[in-house]
Amino acid sequence: MNILVTGGAGYIGSHTLVELLAARHGAVVVDNLCNSSRTALKRVEQISGKKVPFYDVDIRDREGLEKVFSENSFDCCIHFAGLKAVGESVVKPWEYYENNIGGTLVLVDVMRKHGCKNIIFSSSSTVYGDPEVIPVTEQTPKGICTNPYGKTKSMLEDILSDLNAADVKTGDAKPWNVVLLRYFNPIGAHPSGLIGEDPSGIPNNLMPYITQVAVGKRDMLHVFGNDYDTPDGTGVRDYIHVVDLAKGHVKALQAIEQGCGVAVYNLGTGKGYSVLEIVKAFEEASGVKIPYVIDPRRPGDIAANYADASKAEKELGWKAEFGIFEMCRDSWNWQKNNPDGYR
Ligand code: NAD
Ligand code: WQD
Repeated sequence: MNILVTGGAGYIGSHTLVELLAARHGAVVVDNLCNSSRTALKRVEQISGKKVPFYDVDIRDREGLEKVFSENSFDCCIHFAGLKAVGESVVKPWEYYENNIGGTLVLVDVMRKHGCKNIIFSSSSTVYGDPEVIPVTEQTPKGICTNPYGKTKSMLEDILSDLNAADVKTGDAKPWNVVLLRYFNPIGAHPSGLIGEDPSGIPNNLMPYITQVAVGKRDMLHVFGNDYDTPDGTGVRDYIHVVDLAKGHVKALQAIEQGCGVAVYNLGTGKGYSVLEIVKAFEEASGVKIPYVIDPRRPGDIAANYADASKAEKELGWKAEFGIFEMCRDSWNWQKNNPDGYR
């Protein structure tokens, strides 16, 4: 298939490009580089040995997107482009709604005008809020998102689903196919060490913070709370290797090809690890000690969440292959080889 990859220069997008190209799909990237670097795309080309056509276009720029669609024919869009910092979204809600929702509305309008009504959307486990029962299945009701970022994900799931519902209702001969992929906590990097996560400023997420401590850029890890109702009191999450996550997108194309309508999949490993377990696993994989201090809980955090990812296995034949050791090893390999990221 020929795939439009929005946000393809970003962390998950760049890893997905590698897997798409390995599976002999064509891929064209649209990214405004607001949170990423062209170098990531050069590195994807280095890994894959293939050229990646790139448009420096903002998805809110209708004319820019029109040009992309007039010069290419797409079977599907994998839509990663968006802002993703939870804390920032609380202080800049307008920017998050305008970029993530406004951008997606322009994107799907241009797509439908050009007859491309297949989309795979980067959703998040955050749509489950603070679930009563874990592991969560795709049937678990969506919960209350405490921040604008999470709300954009939940709203966009609804908006995209409504596009399909309208087509079904009106008997459209070519209805929208929408795959909503709910990612759990992606970490790790391509085993080559050429591409990886490159956060700007102080990392919000656990693994990039740990790797920056390991490489000497930060003094110590701040563990946000050790009084949760979890085995060691620290937060439990379902960490997934970004290469496994990337492969999930290639598998999701099958659902599109089969005319799935709206299909929702959890992409996680099904295993939860606490913050302190991650610290220990990282120390074992890297041989580097991670000093830490216990801080108060981070507002908005939940105690625990992990996925039941059996639906993706049953329907798509996708299952996460890498374990926590490989996730830590590859995160470290990336950070150690690129102490300043792509800069
Ligand atoms: P990222 O910031 O590395 O990648 C997002 C990319 O989108 C960047 O390259 C950025 O420059 C681009 N972008 C942002 N706004 C744009 C716009 N208006 N026009 C064009 N390009 C734009 O983030 P990521 O971790 O790779 O995440 C990819 C997607 O997955 C995002 O939608 C994110 O919300 C979602 N997601 C991420 C996680 C995670 O923990 N990383 C978890 C769940 C869901
Ligand atoms: C993991 C655990 C923290 C940093 C967020 C978003 C979610 C999704 C993934 C996009 C928690 C603890 C963290 C630190 C710490 N993103 N922690 N010290 O909060 O599960 O999810 O990223 O969709 O929407 O909310 O991930 O990596 O920030 O935190 O102790 O410096 O590590 O409290 O228990 P989280 P995270």
